[in-house]
Amino acid sequence: MGESDKNMDQENKLSNNNGDQIVPPNNKIIERTIVKDWEREIQKGDDIEKYWAMEAEQLDWFKKWDEVLDDSEKPYYKWFVGGKTNLAYNAIDRWIKAEKRNKIAILYTNERGDEIKLTYYELYREINKMANALRNLGIKKGDTVCMYLPMCPELVISMLACTKIGAVHSAIYSGLSSVAIVERINDIKSKVVITADGTYRRGKIINLKSVIDEAMLQCPSVQTVVLVNHTGRYNDVADLRGNEIFYERLIEGEGDTCYSEIMDAEDPLFILYTSGSTGKPKGVLHTTAGYMVGISTTLRNVFDIHDNDLWWSTGDAGWITGHSYTIYAPLLLGSTTLIYEGAPDYPDPGIWWEIIEKYGVTKFYTAPTAIRHLMRFGKKYAKSYNLDSLKVLGSVGEPINYEAWKWMYEEIGKNRTPIMDTWWQTETGMHMIAPMPVADLKPGSATKPLPGVHIAIVDEEGVEVENREKGYLAITQPWPAMFRTLYNDEQRFEDVYWKFFPTGYYKTGDMARMDEDGYVWIEGRSDDVLKIAGHRIGSVEVESAFNSHPAVNETAVIGKEDPVKGQLIKAFLILNEGYNLSMPYKEGYTSTLREELKRHVRHSLGPVAVLGEMVAVDSLPKTKSGKIMRRILKAKEDGENIGDTSTLDDL
Ligand code: PRX
Repeated sequence: MGESDKNMDQENKLSNNNGDQIVPPNNKIIERTIVKDWEREIQKGDDIEKYWAMEAEQLDWFKKWDEVLDDSEKPYYKWFVGGKTNLAYNAIDRWIKAEKRNKIAILYTNERGDEIKLTYYELYREINKMANALRNLGIKKGDTVCMYLPMCPELVISMLACTKIGAVHSAIYSGLSSVAIVERINDIKSKVVITADGTYRRGKIINLKSVIDEAMLQCPSVQTVVLVNHTGRYNDVADLRGNEIFYERLIEGEGDTCYSEIMDAEDPLFILYTSGSTGKPKGVLHTTAGYMVGISTTLRNVFDIHDNDLWWSTGDAGWITGHSYTIYAPLLLGSTTLIYEGAPDYPDPGIWWEIIEKYGVTKFYTAPTAIRHLMRFGKKYAKSYNLDSLKVLGSVGEPINYEAWKWMYEEIGKNRTPIMDTWWQTETGMHMIAPMPVADLKPGSATKPLPGVHIAIVDEEGVEVENREKGYLAITQPWPAMFRTLYNDEQRFEDVYWKFFPTGYYKTGDMARMDEDGYVWIEGRSDDVLKIAGHRIGSVEVESAFNSHPAVNETAVIGKEDPVKGQLIKAFLILNEGYNLSMPYKEGYTSTLREELKRHVRHSLGPVAVLGEMVAVDSLPKTKSGKIMRRILKAKEDGENIGDTSTLDDL
């Protein structure tokens, strides 16, 4: 069978089905891939301790572990107990001793076409300078450092510099608001914040410094603000305030060698905030060795990373995908990682494909929402570029709908490249359910748990559901990259994740079902967390933002399906006396209350909170104890039967 016949065959299979059809993988990939037999590879992980210990051998240790897993204080699991290592050492230092020394580690580009390439050796020296500078600022092992930076080389350098000296970093997505920054910095009490003057976005420069300036008014712990003059806005030291210093000035004169802090396997590595079902963001804490083993193993298995790959993950380092798979895992594998700053549709919707062609990207990892966005501009952009270098594609963040899968498969992968749909979470740190390039794929399913990962679909008692029904997705055994706690909130860590099922399984917060072939299908969240353009946002967070406005008495928000973003926020608002959404907000205002509220919520939560609709209502459905029943609003919105409402106070 010739190449074109093979494509035809795959195309026929694709067009005949509703997303459940098995797609045969590409033969060339099978020849190349490290993993030849998917099922056998999965079986290797039956004994989790044996499997993860074998994988841990691939990394460098200052001292080997005494025990692979300590589960004596559940749910506070410990991995590689007694082991001593350093992630930055494994990601950078060990490569410069060997043949990868002059290989490009990071390739930065942006929407203006600027380009910065840093070899492992160059990156090593930059990291060392920054690590020395941070030590000189008084940062020691265990101290926290915050970053509010765009995707730029200094972000990678700063994160790895922290890791090298044992400081715990906390990166804040550069699209979040000053309110979010204050909340996070005050929770972890950082002494140092690293930020930039601005970031490039759709031909404009977004001012980040003004957001930090506003936040700093309420962050007493911060002693030093380090400013990367990324867009060249500041010309003079005179532009800076007393506790601000230019990044360039900070590292000036610093030596380019620096010892790596000897880290205990369980020493904290970073804290990353994410949304939950209450208003307060959760500080997800990851530790050193298990995280390092988990992310490097999964990237290698799922994306079949080889020495000559050019890896591109579009995940911003303000989110977990950026931490695990844009920065750390590719460097741990000695690969080259492309870092892009900009939107997918600027200067035009072909920019991503232009970059893939220009640099010869081989593995490309992105989110369904981005694909759906680009689909709207038609096929002509992807068709104008040669995307033959691509070998494996990946998807993350939400279930990929069949249309987006098909478009990605046909237009980007040209019917040749398999799509790795990876299910995981900020809390899991690493891919959990995902195929490998030799797997048979079913569009829309992340397939099966990876080796060393054990899951079950269970009922509220933690008992496996029967007949392939829908149930709670639970993880039944610990995994190395698991988060260790919620910073400053151990009770919530235990209650939300570990005490829900009497069996002590980890509760993911997702509903799922498993089909007859053992493939997992994610069926939405079981809690009040929305997924907007792949980003998590809690209903309560959005409601609190609305409620903090003087015109609003009470709010309930739900997710409303959207063809591009997945979900948008729909808000039901009880307004205070005298307010109307369509009327000017106040005397002397030209904007309506609707516009004012949109601005207000965006200011509180940042552009992540994309508002779809707002409606004013007289009352909200509540339980007798006064809890808002969003489920009822959602069911009504979706035209479903709203079921038993006997516990409702009001409808
Ligand atoms: O609901 C699942 C969805 O995203 C949630 C985790 O969100 P976050 O911590 O922000 O991490 C996103 C990047 C890892 C999950 O609980 N999710 C993530 N990936 C998938 C997914 N849902 C379906 N399929 C996926 N591949």
